[in-house]
Amino acid sequence: MKQKLSKKERDPSILIIDFGSQYSELIARRIRETNVFSLVVSNTISIEDINVIRPKGIILSGGPNSVYDQNAPKCVEEIFNLGIPVLGICYGMQLMVKELGGSVSQAIKKAEYGRAPISIDLNSKLLSGVEDNSIMWMSHGDSISSLPTGFNKIAHTENTTHAAIADDQKKLFGVQFHPEVIHSKFGMTVIKNFVFSISNCAADWTTETFLEETLPRIKEQVGDKKVLLALSGGVDSSTLAFLLNKAIGSQLTCMFIDQGFMRKGEPEFLMDFFDRKFHIKVEYINARERFIEKLKGITDPEEKRKIIGGEFIRVFEEESNRLGPFEYLAQGTLYPDVIESAGTNVDPKTGERIAVKIKSHHNVGGLPKDLQFKLVEPLRKLFKDEVRNLGGVLGLPDEIIKRHPFPGPGLAIRILGEVTDEKLNCLRDADWIVRDEIKKAGLYDEIWQAFAVLLPVKTVGVMGDKRTYAWPIVLRCVSSEDGMTADWSKIPFEILERISNRIVNEVTQVNRVVYDITSKPPGTIEWE
Ligand code: XMP
Repeated sequence: MKQKLSKKERDPSILIIDFGSQYSELIARRIRETNVFSLVVSNTISIEDINVIRPKGIILSGGPNSVYDQNAPKCVEEIFNLGIPVLGICYGMQLMVKELGGSVSQAIKKAEYGRAPISIDLNSKLLSGVEDNSIMWMSHGDSISSLPTGFNKIAHTENTTHAAIADDQKKLFGVQFHPEVIHSKFGMTVIKNFVFSISNCAADWTTETFLEETLPRIKEQVGDKKVLLALSGGVDSSTLAFLLNKAIGSQLTCMFIDQGFMRKGEPEFLMDFFDRKFHIKVEYINARERFIEKLKGITDPEEKRKIIGGEFIRVFEEESNRLGPFEYLAQGTLYPDVIESAGTNVDPKTGERIAVKIKSHHNVGGLPKDLQFKLVEPLRKLFKDEVRNLGGVLGLPDEIIKRHPFPGPGLAIRILGEVTDEKLNCLRDADWIVRDEIKKAGLYDEIWQAFAVLLPVKTVGVMGDKRTYAWPIVLRCVSSEDGMTADWSKIPFEILERISNRIVNEVTQVNRVVYDITSKPPGTIEWE
């Protein structure tokens, strides 16, 4: 997870040093919510890099290890002597204590997981405004047994003597609880205290400042070269198209490959919106026949995905050769992808990152290694909600900004078994009704995804005294935070009834609607 922080870019006000916590990204998001720019870096960051960045505050994240483990991750010790405020969270606090001469042992009282009320022992800037006995989220086995000199215990819980500690003079702080987790009632108060009263950060990370800084940077990077962007209609690539259009205008070409698996009206909407309304150059590539031809007789889900991915690459290559040459490929890479990606491929001559594969959200698998573009990735420091805000400021409508996630292989993985034109048309009509009714019921923004799936079996029904023998449609509605886990949505029966009635009445090849009541896990959100 080594990242090179380019000096040309904005430095983070708060640097989060990661020790493998599942919450490091969340800490960064919470700090961004206060309009302060923060980044997560690996614990191997050097003191030289920290000195170049000169953050106003440093947070040491939690982590799964014990500080006494043989390979327990550490960070450079000098950070405690820079005069920069440091907040250690859980493992981060224990590491700081150990490095500064205190000691940590396995659960002095006992391990503590979940909600615990904290009792405040001493006034401190860190806990200012935190109510005594308020709930904080705990998750630790080890505890501090003795503090380094200069530190005071400022709070405890029933099972943890040192729930929060402070060396006010050196501005070193530690909390055993997780202020970033929503269950910590005054967690945001603690974070704000650290960010503003202790580290003196300015709340200057806004969409407007991002734009001011990013537009000239894109121009500088790209110069007078041509940039290609694969537009999918999702919020990331759409926001990117607007951003690049603002920065470099006609040097940008968007390519929209219609594989024939989009939802009803979407290709028309996209062309109308980008090309005609906003005069953003979009090359519409009608590849519908190629894709459906390739899928003839294919029923295995993985094979379908592979074929669609492979065909996308071929079309992409052919069309970029025809329209190009392009020096740059624009990608809607977001910050979570950057945090997670261990190695990046850097051109040794220019120091720029090279595209060896298109991001998976385009679902094209990997581009061949010899197809080399330089990358423009201006969203790579942003979280999804920040991209949505940016899209809004740039003029994208809610229809795009709030659009439910839609998989790259599109409706092809929502038709089980072989994909045919007839089934695609049927599913498109059913899907349209689902979205229409969910929107009319005011549920669209609450639900993570609502869609229809077509099953390739036939069941018997009766309509107007006549026997029918037709396909069933599965209705799938889930709530989720990030798509990794999901609950099936408990939407009101009347709405289910309306959707079912309309689908059976308006979509001729369908005579039955069922509702999927499986959460993830054990189910996945998509059916293939
Ligand atoms: P699953 O079905 O794995 O889906 O529970 C989790 C989330 O990912 C979306 N999804 C995809 N998104 N390309 C995408 O861009 C894909 O190939 C793909 N497959 C699933 C899915 O819609 C859900 O939001």
